[in-house]
Amino acid sequence: MNPTTPLPMPDYSKPSGLAPNRELTAEQIAFFHEHGYVTMQSILPLDELPRVRDVYDHLFAEKTGRSEGNQLDLAGTDEDGKPQSLPQILMPAKYAPELLATQMVANIRRVSEQLLGPGAMMCGDHAINKPPRAGAPTPWHQDEAYWDPMKDYRTISIWIPLQPATKENGCMHFVPGSHRLEVLPHQPIGNDPRVHGLEVVPGAFDFSSAVACELPPGGATIHYGRTLHYAPGNRSDDYRRAYIGMGEQKPTSRATLREYPWKRVRMTLRDERAAKAGGIKA
Ligand code: NI
Repeated sequence: MNPTTPLPMPDYSKPSGLAPNRELTAEQIAFFHEHGYVTMQSILPLDELPRVRDVYDHLFAEKTGRSEGNQLDLAGTDEDGKPQSLPQILMPAKYAPELLATQMVANIRRVSEQLLGPGAMMCGDHAINKPPRAGAPTPWHQDEAYWDPMKDYRTISIWIPLQPATKENGCMHFVPGSHRLEVLPHQPIGNDPRVHGLEVVPGAFDFSSAVACELPPGGATIHYGRTLHYAPGNRSDDYRRAYIGMGEQKPTSRATLREYPWKRVRMTLRDERAAKAGGIKA
């Protein structure tokens, strides 16, 4: 790719032309609103899974997006050449727009409308590829802690494993009902400002009511922007691949001031690469 011709941002709202073929039941929708998360046994049809997985593995093998800050180590200090403990790609659809033409994405859009109402749009994607036997845990956090503190969000994340998701390889865990909390105090993982990933400040919350959600390949967990979630390290012999699509109703400006000190302290190599490429701080 010629670095002087940057790729356009992906248009997550553009219809793919495919009709959805998976959706939530009324019981699943009610469960989501009560508990702040829900599971689906299938959102990515199995006949499409090998193609999505090929695209996914290629993006990680090439460290696609790294020079723009869109490939990073979520849980490490992320120096070039250092093994990554939790490799992540932001906006994979920017580099592989074919992802947006999949049945999986048609289903993500459908589920977003079911949970957030008419007009809800897909608004982003990312991917976390947890290495075998060495992958770091994704510590407890609320996704909203990463976002703009001066906006109010109605946003969901749809987390899709490309192989089984088990307690052994790092399936998602949720605290039921935590979507009703405010955003808790967070810090960079290990309180190291060089690390991109965030965690709830140790001791700030009791996670003993957490629920583990094992899934078949192509299933999904769906959670709200404030739902507390965690995924353990990967103790299996294979990568734990997860593609995450996001859906939202357009965020609105907040009436009251809110500050996230954890965003101010963070100084990451990812941000340096993004700044050099003319990007934005994530
Ligand atoms: Ni998260």
